[in-house]
Amino acid sequence: MINELNAQWRLAATPKGGLPLAEDFVWVTQDMPEPAQNQMLTETLYLSLDPYQWGRRRSGVELPGEVCHGRTVARVIKSCISGYAEGDYVFNTNGWQHYGLSGEGIDIFGYMHPRKLDASVAPISTAIGVLGMLGLTAYSGLIVQCQPRSGETVVVSAASGGVGQVAVQLARLAGCRVVGIAGAQHKIEYLESLGVDSVVSHLDPQFFQKLKAACPDGCDVYFENVGGKVFDAVLPLLNKNARVTLCGVVSQYGNTDGQDPRTVWQAKGQPFFERQQVTVHDLFVGNFVDEYQDVFLQEMAGYVGAGEVRYKEDLRHGLGCAPQAFYDMLTGDNFGKTLLAVGEDPTR
Ligand SMILES: NC(=O)c1ccc[n+]([C@@H]2O[C@H](COP(=O)([O-])OP(=O)(O)OC[C@H]3O[C@@H](n4cnc5c(N)ncnc54)[C@H](OP(=O)(O)O)[C@@H]3O)[C@@H](O)[C@H]2O)c1
Repeated sequence: MINELNAQWRLAATPKGGLPLAEDFVWVTQDMPEPAQNQMLTETLYLSLDPYQWGRRRSGVELPGEVCHGRTVARVIKSCISGYAEGDYVFNTNGWQHYGLSGEGIDIFGYMHPRKLDASVAPISTAIGVLGMLGLTAYSGLIVQCQPRSGETVVVSAASGGVGQVAVQLARLAGCRVVGIAGAQHKIEYLESLGVDSVVSHLDPQFFQKLKAACPDGCDVYFENVGGKVFDAVLPLLNKNARVTLCGVVSQYGNTDGQDPRTVWQAKGQPFFERQQVTVHDLFVGNFVDEYQDVFLQEMAGYVGAGEVRYKEDLRHGLGCAPQAFYDMLTGDNFGKTLLAVGEDPTR
């Protein structure tokens, strides 16, 4: 093990294009890092690929030459931190590399604190999906911010994706009538299998009419993941006193007009929001970690264990395909939560 090299993807340069290109990333191999006091060396088993990673790269927060950031599930190889031992499974932020250091002096990107995982509670890959930041995003936006009531109509866009599939199921558990928006037919069928009351494809030429027909009583809560044309179709359906969580606008992340897509989204919605007295919540999951993560993890582990919340992973194999899988996720060529199997998971 000591003689092994550590392969990693680094950011080649601040991307110039609207969507990721192969030349934005460079493959590097390095000597294995050695943990100092209060650090541990872990092997990446799963790497999460998420839209926000593109925002960091495009905006220059992630610097050229840095290992590409990413949340990971990993196995402890060598620990110099009390409370963590060799063989433990952890959630951490190794990024796009086979091995990484965690602990004192290692950047975790704000709120993504390492924590130990219990493989007997749920498959450990879920710590970067339904039982991780994605699940918490759905919970914070839907339950904490929008507070859906039984009988209300909840509309969720990118409904089969990592965040969306959790949001639709939480809405169903809250007793709401749930309308999901997705692209391809297999995603529509998956959402129907989850018990979503009505599913509409944004690829359908009759999308606007079909969404309206799917919401005969209008929309009380809208969970926004997409923006663009999908947002245009939802706006006229918002009821008086509707609540909206602005989770993300993934359809706009490839824009090259230099404008902030969330600001553009807000300006477009404003006349509708004012007319209908809509409450709009700007969602940033990092604001909910301290207060809600523990309660969320307990509640969601119960739902997952009881089969009341199901989840779909789009599991790709090998660190080498990270740039392509990342592109696929941003452009809708994924199905469920996108993650890479980087190392072998002995618990699977
Ligand atoms: N606010 C926060 O703190 C926070 C935290 C996490 C995630 N997010 C946001 O949550 C959203 C979902 O993230 P995720 O990780 O769960 O990704 P995801 O939904 O698993 O993948 C992205 C999905 O977006 C849809 N999409 C892409 N381009 C589209 C387009 N032009 N028109 C319509 N749909 C399009 C695709 O679904 P279809 O094929 O079905 O269209 C694709 O599968 C993103 O906007 C992300 O930025 C926000």
